Amino acid sequence: MSEPIIVGVDGSRAALAAVLWAADDAARRGCDLRIVHVVAPPVYGGQPYERSLDDAARQESERLLAEAAALAAEYHANVQVSTELLYGNTTDILRAQAVEAATIVVGSRGLDGFAGLLLGSVGLGLAGHVAGPVVVVRGAPAIVQGEIVAGVNPDDAVHPALDYAFEEAQARGARLQVVHAWDMPSSRAGPEIIAQAQQERARSVLTPWTKRHPGVVVTVSVFRGNPIAALCEASARADLVVVGSRGRGVIRSAVLGSVSHGVLHYAPCPVAVVRPRVRTD
Ligand SMILES: Nc1ncnc2c1ncn2[C@@H]1O[C@H](COP(=O)(O)OP(=O)(O)OP(=O)(O)O)[C@@H](O)[C@H]1O
Ligand SMILES: [Mg+2]
Repeated sequence: MSEPIIVGVDGSRAALAAVLWAADDAARRGCDLRIVHVVAPPVYGGQPYERSLDDAARQESERLLAEAAALAAEYHANVQVSTELLYGNTTDILRAQAVEAATIVVGSRGLDGFAGLLLGSVGLGLAGHVAGPVVVVRGAPAIVQGEIVAGVNPDDAVHPALDYAFEEAQARGARLQVVHAWDMPSSRAGPEIIAQAQQERARSVLTPWTKRHPGVVVTVSVFRGNPIAALCEASARADLVVVGSRGRGVIRSAVLGSVSHGVLHYAPCPVAVVRPRVRTD
């Protein structure tokens, strides 16, 4: 049995959008769906105490889990859905859950935060911190566009985003647009010549994946300029944008590269941040 898709819920609308995304993905991939709600451990006078079964807070947690499970079951009757109520710090518990997940899915926002907040602490605490794909769902599911966008930098040693992007494109029968943004302050070669060279470099990186997924229609787009802007613009007509957790940026110790960080905040569609399952650094 393959690992489940795991989604976190907190009773917010954004979390329910994440449940729909996760149920869809579970149906496509033939995985089970696990819906998790985390609550802070009940503490009284510094001592944790056992909540009774009829505790109002516990009932509320169980109600929101049941609501999410019913939504998933209604959307995809053939997906096996389970729920779990866990006590602890949300980010810590979901990081631990991610170890046994095919993919971990959360909403971009939850119940807390403030009006203008673009990304909640849970998505930020998971992306780049756990191995495998973390999907942060922004907005309610809109019309299916049939296109996935993936960001690639040919200079990177590994391309975990391509594994996930090709898998998703194949499972959905979607097109894949690979985006590479580059910048060079000045050069004797004309921009058209550089753009063509960049296009060829990006294309040559793809060869192992296009061989493994011959059914996926791939286009390569190169942009001169900021990669966050290029990826967010390309994502305006995409169902999902996929990026690696980090590249070869200046802050080598950062768990999340600046491009992934920016895309997570500004992309108009769901974002997958993929960290390799085996550490490469
Ligand atoms: N207690 C929780 N249990 C399980 N998943 C949660 C929980 N809280 C949040 N999540 C998941 O994380 C997503 C984002 O919520 P998050 O808490 O990060 O944002 P927020 O509430 O807007 O801001 P803040 O970071 O201030 O809490 C939710 O849509 C949900 O998928
Ligand atoms: Mg919150």
